[in-house]
Amino acid sequence: MSTFLRMISIHETCYNLNREVSIIAGPSSSDLATRIARDLDAELVPVDVRIFTDGESKIKIGKTKKKYCIIVQSTYPPTDRHLLQALMMIKKCTDCKAMNVYTVIPYLAYARQDRAFLEGEVISMELVAKLLEAVGTRRVITVDIHSSLALSHFTINVQNISSISILADYAANEMKLNKPIVVSPDSGGIIRAREFAKILKVDMMALKKFRDRDTGEVHIDERLDLSVIDRDALLVDDIISSGDSIAKACKVLKKNNSSKVYAICTHALLIGDAMQRIKAAGVEDVIATNSIPSEFAKVDLSRIISENLRNLVHS
Ligand code: R5P
Repeated sequence: MSTFLRMISIHETCYNLNREVSIIAGPSSSDLATRIARDLDAELVPVDVRIFTDGESKIKIGKTKKKYCIIVQSTYPPTDRHLLQALMMIKKCTDCKAMNVYTVIPYLAYARQDRAFLEGEVISMELVAKLLEAVGTRRVITVDIHSSLALSHFTINVQNISSISILADYAANEMKLNKPIVVSPDSGGIIRAREFAKILKVDMMALKKFRDRDTGEVHIDERLDLSVIDRDALLVDDIISSGDSIAKACKVLKKNNSSKVYAICTHALLIGDAMQRIKAAGVEDVIATNSIPSEFAKVDLSRIISENLRNLVHS
């Protein structure tokens, strides 16, 4: 395509998106929503939220008459509140007869309960998928969902965007690493770690982690498949919650004489004293995306989410 035609096409893309798309800035993700709207040159619709003394939320969405209403709301803690707020916003957009209601949920809570691990357990992810669909979202866009099984509970289309390439770019460009090795804390994260290592062109291995399903207690085998002596280790995981997995993984790496250990994840929940626990184990730093806003959210998801939305709107 000639430069002239490409310029016309870019211009038309911006013009159309501006006319067709509203980005609804959910209370948990207003900064990310603002960045996405800016990237897409789309209308940004503010959301007023009021929390009553009993903990209930009241949501008010600004007026919009666009073809696509795209709600941005991550469901990090307070998880149930953020989830219910997402449901309220979807319901409102659906009631207002928006033609296409899409929901961007960068961190999708309950994805780890994608099956009944013990008899009698509720498959929470199945319920969450049903609720989102019931109130009328036509698509869900999420980032690094915990498992493909979690995705399978939806009957609508779900885009699961990988943040591995932008996290790996950060490691390659912003961190000074000595003989780095990528380490997954468990076998479940092996594909993620492999992709990360491939981008950095370095070795990768997975630790052997076991979790007691009754107590939640984590144990990691101290024997490693590869040597980490005097190497910087990048522990790559999807979620850091209590910090237990990363802290125990770091201790195993240090015991095997690794050099510096960094924790890199998509969703840094960092509940309670997780950060103290991780630091005490010897982790130098935590690098995460802004699916959950915090001082560790050093990698911005807005560009990869915007690219995905642009393709969806024009497909
Ligand atoms: C588990 O399979 C996940 O990938 C994470 O490793 C886990 O959720 C981290 O949780 P925590 O920080 O509580 O150990």
